[in-house]
Amino acid sequence: MNLTDRPRRLRRDGVRGLVSENRVSASDLIAPVFVDATTDERIPIESMPGHERVSVDDAVDRVEEILETGVEAVMLFGIPESKDELGTRAWAEDGVVQRATRDIAAETDAYVITDVCLCEYTDHGHCGVIEDHADENPTLTVKNDETLDLLGKIAVSHAEAGAQMVAPSSMTDGMVGAIREALDAERFDDVPIMSYAVKYQSAFYGPFRDAADGAPAFGDRRHYQMDPANAREALREARLDVEQGADVLMIKPALPYLDIVNAIRREFDHPVAAYNVSGEYAMLQAAAEKGWLDLEEVAMESLVSMKRAGADLILTYFAEQVADQL
Ligand code: PBG
Repeated sequence: MNLTDRPRRLRRDGVRGLVSENRVSASDLIAPVFVDATTDERIPIESMPGHERVSVDDAVDRVEEILETGVEAVMLFGIPESKDELGTRAWAEDGVVQRATRDIAAETDAYVITDVCLCEYTDHGHCGVIEDHADENPTLTVKNDETLDLLGKIAVSHAEAGAQMVAPSSMTDGMVGAIREALDAERFDDVPIMSYAVKYQSAFYGPFRDAADGAPAFGDRRHYQMDPANAREALREARLDVEQGADVLMIKPALPYLDIVNAIRREFDHPVAAYNVSGEYAMLQAAAEKGWLDLEEVAMESLVSMKRAGADLILTYFAEQVADQL
């Protein structure tokens, strides 16, 4: 046997690193942070071991902990003191995210990204203005165009508080254009939009809905989030967001949708973000707790697979752990 091509030659220690095609670095990672206006202590999130909701007063300390690991960016989610039908606390000047953002921007060097959505702020838990009688009729959910104004207001209120990037996650048609227009009208034309461009209606968000208390009170999100069966539609969603001025295109979830991450990477030249969501985190944590998987190894392998698929940025609950490992 005459084997001339032996890939194993390049797998030895010393050369492996030289020929390595992808690597995860702390500067690629964004750590989600949950700020809770209803508490003054840290509340552990049971389905997401290692994560807690923190009070507004504690937000700066929480972000400092993240920065110490080498991660430089955070994504803020808020749990408001009260909810109502329209989600008015989402754009309040003294809202939970606005207050936390103001403190974090003033006191830390973190790059602050805010999630722009209504589901944590509405009493029905949907991501926008609800249709009349939606609770009795599962084909009705969110009024698209009425929601756009509210999203613009939320984004502006975040930018006023000092958010450096906004990330709309409601899958409202036209949301990127509406937010861009609202920001520009208030002279926030330098605040980029990271669009949750391709957000699937996924059961992998389960633990997040405990963490942020944003589960829909009735029905589900299939009338606005994408069908997991669809790939061509993902390109269409991304194209619409690019046309409306999105700066970064996010795909969510990540691991079950790496084909989509790769397709978006190939089709567009915008930076691509992958959201390694709560359920992806929880399943590895649960298996590791049982001793079935090595947590450090599977976390790193997951993130490198996202880089390999084409992600530039990764939102992940493993951010601190992986940055520490690096
Ligand atoms: C909506 C939002 C959700 C997540 C991020 N933003 C929940 C949803 O769409 O149901 C999920 C994140 C995760 O699961 O980690 N504001």
